[in-house]
Amino acid sequence: MKKLTSRETLERLKERQNAVILAHNYQRPEVQDIADFVGDSLGLATKAAETDAENIVFCGVDFMAEIAKILNPDKTVLHPDTGAKCPMAAMVDPESLGWLTADHPEAAVVAYVNTSAAVKAASHICCTSSNAAKVIQSLEQDTVIFVPDHNLGQYAKRSVEGKNLLLWPGICPTHHKITPDDISAFQRSHPEAEVLVHPECRPEVIDLAHQVLSTGGMTNHVRQSEGREFIVGTEKELCYRLSRECPDKDFYPVEKALCPNMKKTTLDKVLKSLQNLTPQVSLPQNIMQQASRPLQRMMDMGRGD
Ligand code: 13P
Ligand code: SF4
Repeated sequence: MKKLTSRETLERLKERQNAVILAHNYQRPEVQDIADFVGDSLGLATKAAETDAENIVFCGVDFMAEIAKILNPDKTVLHPDTGAKCPMAAMVDPESLGWLTADHPEAAVVAYVNTSAAVKAASHICCTSSNAAKVIQSLEQDTVIFVPDHNLGQYAKRSVEGKNLLLWPGICPTHHKITPDDISAFQRSHPEAEVLVHPECRPEVIDLAHQVLSTGGMTNHVRQSEGREFIVGTEKELCYRLSRECPDKDFYPVEKALCPNMKKTTLDKVLKSLQNLTPQVSLPQNIMQQASRPLQRMMDMGRGD
């Protein structure tokens, strides 16, 4: 009998387990290839909220799988490698956030989705890289505590009016290592290229960008842009997604911008996870209930890019 390919095995398992596979734009190419949906944090949260499937296999880092669980408390959410954790999300915890909120009881707390469920539960509203400024601007409070990404907060500050923004000192190690020199070296060899940069980058890198966008925003932008060449200032695997969508365009990734945690999920781990329906995301009931409100508030606002 003919041996099934990994892809065929996966398709059969998916059907048998009534499962959907969601993958972030930074996942390995072979994982992106087998996913039912590939997207950014906001797009993935929306898909997770909409799915009819009983089992959600989430190929991404911890906070993304947790969001899928918070939005689907009665479904099984599988996270094929539980060691895939976002280091920036670990830079703020409810206790230290509590010290700051105690000093500023008048402030609203905005939690970037790159946070634990417990931090989301202690916030008024969440945001993603797509809608941070829109979310902050919508708040009635004048003072806003923004956690944990300092670079994203500083970028939002450029367009938000009339708010006193208190920024947490967190960073994404992958984006923070991109320097202005990395971008300008590409600009010298490709002077016609458009520069797309993620808002988790340093302000000096953002200053060089033509467009500052979430990974979903970058994908939408290159689809409709008349440009043929793009310097891409974010995790390098987004360029796999972009080249797949627009094979006639050229993309220049910053090779050192690699998120090791996003690479922990492999095809083999996805297969095993689907076979055994483990490891499952599990969160305390009260934390899920408290975190769902700020998440839902953000999702009701939609994209900002
Ligand atoms: P996006 O929502 O733009 O995909 O960003 C997620 C992330 O973790 C960026 O590092
Ligand atoms: Fe976290 Fe940065 Fe990796 Fe995104 S790229 S998951 S923010 S460490």
